[in-house]
Amino acid sequence: METTLVLIKPGGVQRNLIGEITRRIEARNLKVTGLKLINAPRTTVEEHYAEHKERPFFTSVVDYLTSGPIVAIAVQGDNAVKAIRAMMGATNPVDAAPGTVRGDLALTIEDNLTHSSSDPEAAARELALWFPEGTI
Ligand code: PPS
Repeated sequence: METTLVLIKPGGVQRNLIGEITRRIEARNLKVTGLKLINAPRTTVEEHYAEHKERPFFTSVVDYLTSGPIVAIAVQGDNAVKAIRAMMGATNPVDAAPGTVRGDLALTIEDNLTHSSSDPEAAARELALWFPEGTI
């Protein structure tokens, strides 16, 4: 059993996609074990994307993630990390397959709707960052 992190980015919240994205997660028989709507502190977002801090988009992605409310979700289930990554689709929505969240609902990499942990180690690090109080 694994637990992974999903963030619904500001564009997803503004487009009223919290329910649609959460519905897909639950329909896959994955369990929501943590869920919160927050205005993310800039320091938390910078730490979240720390491995990308030398990349040209770092400031813009941090600006974007702090531009409005986001939803942080802890998701538990068998192979949850890989299953969620596959459900969200390729990072760039133009490469995302139909049937995935990005392939169905997003168009640009600047607004790719969700973040999900890339591997179990990243999931553990990110869950500790976004759910320091722990999950259910
Ligand atoms: S991945 O999925 O981690 O392998 O993707 P990667 O290409 O390494 O990108 C890491 C995160 O940076 C975001 N990204 C961008 N944001 C804005 N503009 C541009 N050009 C851009 N390129 C990459 C990408 O969406 C990844 O963030 P998350 O939150 O995981 O989607």
